[in-house]
Amino acid sequence: MKFLRFLLIIPLIILTIILINGLSKRSKDYGLVFAVTDKIDYLSNPNLKVKSTKTKMTKEQVAQTTNRRPCLFIYDNKVYQIPDAFFDLHKGGSDELLQACGRDITAIFNFMPHTTSAQQLLTHFYYTDLKN
Ligand code: HEM
Repeated sequence: MKFLRFLLIIPLIILTIILINGLSKRSKDYGLVFAVTDKIDYLSNPNLKVKSTKTKMTKEQVAQTTNRRPCLFIYDNKVYQIPDAFFDLHKGGSDELLQACGRDITAIFNFMPHTTSAQQLLTHFYYTDLKN
């Protein structure tokens, strides 16, 4: 009888581990439980505030940061930096975010379902203006 009870506990433990660590790609950084309950405060995180520069950059210079962490991307003719710390915090996944590195993401960013808080965060990522 005791052994049967022990056997019942094993799937319960496995289920708890799955819930805490997360099932899907979306929740992998926080765990399923935390993905639902945690609201990440990106805007007051000092590691997510980029220091801008007055030196303008060309598209080619931005393109050199493809697959780098941190990296640069173009949005609406301005250059933005993705801080290294943000890759593991991005709810769309770090691989998706890496797609932005070195590229102009104006069309895709407007198309993806980003909220106004993501739009605000974008202003924290401003790096410099684009040199034409
Ligand atoms: C190629 C570029 C990008 C792709 C494909 C992408 C994709 C996504 C997707 C699919 C989600 C939704 C995840 C979900 O809730 O199920 C998401 C969420 C989010 N993304 Fe991105 N993303 C990109 C770039 C960025 C950039 C540059 C930022 C920085 C401002 C950003 C900030 C966020 C934030 C804050 C969220 C959480 C939900 C929200 O507030 O909108 N993403 N992203």
